[in-house]
Amino acid sequence: MSINIKSAADIQGMREACRLASEVLDYLTPFVTAGVTTKEIDRLAGEYMVNVQGTRSATLGYQPPGYPPYPASLCTSLNNVVCHGIPNEKPLKKGDIMNIDVTVITKDGWFGDNSRMYLIGETSIAAKRLCQVTFEAMWVGIMQVKPGNRLGDVGHAIQKFAEGHGYSVVREFCGHGIGKVFHEEPQVLHYGRPGTLEVLKPGMVFTIEPMINIGRREIKEHGNDGWTIVTKDRSLSAQWEHTVLVTETGYEVMTMSAGSPATPAFVNAETLPATA
Ligand code: MF3
Ligand code: CO
Ligand code: CO
Repeated sequence: MSINIKSAADIQGMREACRLASEVLDYLTPFVTAGVTTKEIDRLAGEYMVNVQGTRSATLGYQPPGYPPYPASLCTSLNNVVCHGIPNEKPLKKGDIMNIDVTVITKDGWFGDNSRMYLIGETSIAAKRLCQVTFEAMWVGIMQVKPGNRLGDVGHAIQKFAEGHGYSVVREFCGHGIGKVFHEEPQVLHYGRPGTLEVLKPGMVFTIEPMINIGRREIKEHGNDGWTIVTKDRSLSAQWEHTVLVTETGYEVMTMSAGSPATPAFVNAETLPATA
């Protein structure tokens, strides 16, 4: 097995899929407020993908070995939910933090995968800081993406940054190669040692999607839905996700659209933050 290198035409297909995945989040943003249920957000997203974009959800009916079919068009992971939260009838309330993770499939069969954190009303300073640091941790990882660097450099940078802020990195879930297949090689760990693992080459496309906990890194399955993952100590967890292309000189973040949160200033300055 080896890592698929995308052609120029493949990259065009991925650019479209990734922009559309990001635009689903743009569309949802104004609806993500106190009083709305995650099921309603899921319904809006499903209709937007199918009726407006002409895409479809990659998660609806998704069934990796050992899992039941995933029942929704997106994942909504609230507060202590680490990932794979299933939309339900419970209204959001002020102070909640929530990840929305959207993966679309275009008519041509390309997958675009991304997620963002949403703050519902005024949240605690601790929750806000977790979301901000996790966003920066994703970007610190993205900054390591260039030909010749290795996946261990990406994971190490994220781990050092997150742990440097007193947080922990979830180990059981990782980023992944993506293309005409949802989850393909390589696995992109969000922890590790510099100079280890796969060497990055132009044309590789993978996600970077760190899950960062305020408390301990251990997780458990929430219950009997077969999907929802929570922190074992019930502490808050945050996640951001982009799909990234390795270019000749560095990286291209493919999941960008008009509503994407601004790139951190330290990325534009091409220096690591003082806290890294
Ligand atoms: N979008 C998630 C990822 O980033 C996968 C969700 S699978 C689901 O890889 F079935 F839970 F939706
Ligand atoms: Co995702
Ligand atoms: Co992903």
